[in-house]
Amino acid sequence: MTMFDPVGTKDLARLSDLAQHEILDILATAADFKRNPQRVAGAMAGKSICMLFEKPSLRTRMSFEVGAFRMGGQAIYLDHKDTPLGTRETLGDYGRNLERWCHAIVARVNRQATITGLAAATRVPVINALCDMHHPCQALADLQTLLERGFDLNHSRLAWVGDGNNVCHSLIEAASILGFGITVVTPKGFEPDAALVSQCVARSMRTGARIEVTSDVHAIAGAFAVYTDACISMGQADTAEKKAAFEPYQVDRELMAIAGPKALFMHCLPAHRGEEVTDEVIDSANSVVFDQAENRMHAQNALLCHLLATKQPTAKGTATAAASR
Ligand code: CP
Ligand code: NVA
Repeated sequence: MTMFDPVGTKDLARLSDLAQHEILDILATAADFKRNPQRVAGAMAGKSICMLFEKPSLRTRMSFEVGAFRMGGQAIYLDHKDTPLGTRETLGDYGRNLERWCHAIVARVNRQATITGLAAATRVPVINALCDMHHPCQALADLQTLLERGFDLNHSRLAWVGDGNNVCHSLIEAASILGFGITVVTPKGFEPDAALVSQCVARSMRTGARIEVTSDVHAIAGAFAVYTDACISMGQADTAEKKAAFEPYQVDRELMAIAGPKALFMHCLPAHRGEEVTDEVIDSANSVVFDQAENRMHAQNALLCHLLATKQPTAKGTATAAASR
């Protein structure tokens, strides 16, 4: 007989693992937790999460650890920068150990396949804390930040200016699920993943989202917020050619003026000041970057409550663990 008592079986490998109503519920809980910090106390009492990191982090690690502490739970950090998952023992064996002690697994990994492999092998929720393709926890915090500034899911539009990367992918998924507009501006050759965009465009037929991908910065006119990120993500080759391609796309005062005087500035951080954004813009009154950072904790606390409360007695553990071997 196993000691294992699954409390949740649903993973967040990418934002589109959540239905529209689930995202809206999580965002409502996150806003409530932020307004009423005492409400999180005990929400994770007696529960442990483990956090696997193949890449560096400030915000993700801090927000999950502090969040678990405030909810009366425990977060354990496992550093995998030097020993990528699957090297010391198989990913499946690793996951099947962790699920005996932990109620959820938070993983920051190099490849999306590691998240899906871990999710397939384990019966506890696996939360993607960034991989090459997605950063769903960031998107949840960003949505919370936008909504608290008055973003209208039916009428407002978000502009992305920069690399078509993991953060960009999760925001496109967010737009397609919730039905808001997103204009993605990248240098030619650095567009978001074509298959992901196609899936999101197909979904937007049901939700009414407007998804535009272009290399013309003038397309950001009228956007509610302008969002950028480093042009070289963790683990990517840092080439002079790539940096040169992004120079015309630096978010500076002139670029923000195209969006309009009320446009917010957003960045997942860490920022490379003087590269993708100027000091003047990131330090301006319109910048909400530290609200985004704070909201990582509120949104993730709400996410954890959602996933840990989700009881889905599927055969996931038995069916997919076999497949992963
Ligand atoms: N935005 C974000 O994920 O920050 P870290 O890389 O510091 O966790
Ligand atoms: N796109 C960046 C996000 C960092 C939070 C990276 O993957 O490094």
